[in-house]
Amino acid sequence: MIIIKSPREILLMKESGRILGEIWDFLKDYIQPGISTLDISHQVERIMKENGGVSAEKGYGGYPEAACVSVNEQLVHGIPSAKKILKDGDIVSVDLVVVKNGYMADACRTFPVGIYGERQKRLIEVTEQCFWNGVAKIKPGAHLGDVQHEIQKTAESQGYSVAREYTGHGIGTHMHEDPYIPNYGEAGSGPMLREGMTLCFEPMIMEGKPGLRVMKDGWTAVSKDGKLTCHYENTVVVTKDGYEVLTLSPSETERRKLI
Ligand code: MF3
Ligand code: CO
Repeated sequence: MIIIKSPREILLMKESGRILGEIWDFLKDYIQPGISTLDISHQVERIMKENGGVSAEKGYGGYPEAACVSVNEQLVHGIPSAKKILKDGDIVSVDLVVVKNGYMADACRTFPVGIYGERQKRLIEVTEQCFWNGVAKIKPGAHLGDVQHEIQKTAESQGYSVAREYTGHGIGTHMHEDPYIPNYGEAGSGPMLREGMTLCFEPMIMEGKPGLRVMKDGWTAVSKDGKLTCHYENTVVVTKDGYEVLTLSPSETERRKLI
């Protein structure tokens, strides 16, 4: 069952989303060659706490840290480590869920590190474009499949593939609510969108062939072919005549106004 949120609940989710936005603007300058993925997680935990929030990832199914930090061929659920040091040309995905006053927001950014190439830049740009092309389809009465189809089309038209093993999802008082949202599908299929639905769209895009394996740590999902992978996610609310994204940073909100 897809839970429709009240205006009060949406306000609470906006506050959680605002905290993630603060974190993105911090991280885009903080992420540099030489820092570890655990450093990132510690900073995330600090900013959440300073804003009255807490990570919903730490302890979820036994997950040990406050952030998922995945580098290069690691698609999702990379466990932060003091030994994993970022270097020039890496791409690092930071996937976060914060909870404040019982309501959650979930989002992910992939940042390039130091000096990087066209290959990294294009994968990140296309993954973000998958999200924006997809959510452009959102309005009450549209179908979830319209969004899914657009995400898939955007990735595949650029020669990339979509990961099939993980999906987007509804969100609210729980991290994962109905519906589950694959990054592929048919236009016109699936549940109809209604005002007040809160949904996480999260394109997970692979440079190479589809196919993932989970590392021995039981969490980190990596591409089988070792090629780069990328992840971008926001929490979105369906509004009366479209949608609103709840997890943009102040600088991202300014940039979107120019597009
Ligand atoms: N943030 C992820 C998602 O997009 C889930 C995190 S898994 C956890 O759904 F174990 F780290 F919490
Ligand atoms: Co998510």
